[in-house]
Amino acid sequence: MTDFYILGFSNFKTEQILLTVGIMIMYSLTIVGNLVISMVISLVPNLHTPMYFFLCNLSVVDVIYVSSSLPKLLSITITQDNRISFAGCISQLYFFTFSAVCDIFVLTSMAGDRYVAICRPLQYTLIMNRTVCGTMSVLCWIFSAGNSLLMTLLTSGLDFCKSREISHFLCDVKTMTALSSSDTTSREIFILIEDIIVGFVPFSLTVASYVRIISTILKIHSSETRLKAFSSCTSHLTAVILFYGPILILNMKPESEHSKEQDNLISLLYVAVVPMLNPFVYSLRNKDVLDAVRKLRGMCHD
Ligand SMILES: *[C@@H]1O[C@H](CO)[C@@H](O)[C@H](O)[C@H]1NC(C)=O
Repeated sequence: MTDFYILGFSNFKTEQILLTVGIMIMYSLTIVGNLVISMVISLVPNLHTPMYFFLCNLSVVDVIYVSSSLPKLLSITITQDNRISFAGCISQLYFFTFSAVCDIFVLTSMAGDRYVAICRPLQYTLIMNRTVCGTMSVLCWIFSAGNSLLMTLLTSGLDFCKSREISHFLCDVKTMTALSSSDTTSREIFILIEDIIVGFVPFSLTVASYVRIISTILKIHSSETRLKAFSSCTSHLTAVILFYGPILILNMKPESEHSKEQDNLISLLYVAVVPMLNPFVYSLRNKDVLDAVRKLRGMCHD
């Protein structure tokens, strides 16, 4: 098998240094931020609730997500050698697909957690017990891994005789399928069905949970309780909007309004920025996490 060429940002001649520094900063912040938040959550007993366990899962998945693509992209912008081996490309495709789908499932599980907390508060500890949460998170990981394995096997069986130039900055299922010289009609239908199962269904479940959550919150009479109920959802709601917002905007904009490079830049911002923001979304406005960090700092000083 010969190499592929990643052409994502090859037209950015003068901006290569800016691109390199930018990716480096975003990558380091994402790794540090997510590792810190998962350490804080595992160390502080106050944060041992389903919400924070899922957040911990989200952080681990986000680290895999950025690590599947950004280090390779960095090496390309630094060395200007844009080759990637078939094995490299296929493993990138596996980990990228796995973590993107796992991210969606974990966010959806968190929406379920918020739904039970707000709409079934009396049964909350009964429904969201350790076994249920553990099972949900294991299912997220197993289903994402299985789905990604299937997509990777299907893609690795394609022929690439026409061209080996990847116009994106990473190998993903859609780019590789479009690049292939095989007949991909049946695969495209398969990918569409997969998109519905791992994208549209979880998104609809999340929206449905929030419709119920908001209508329940609006029925609360005491404004103090209403505010408290709502603020227990704002971090997750922000994460959901950050995650789905750009996808919706990218898919709704008219075709050919941007060049391929501009599209790549927008997807890069998406791949690099959203995982970087999650730890901040959950910690900056959140009293639990800030208290926990303060307590940990106190412990270190003693
Ligand atoms: C993921 O979430 C489950 C269930 O809440 C929890 O038991 C587990 O420790 C978490 N794992 C990681 C790696 O964060």
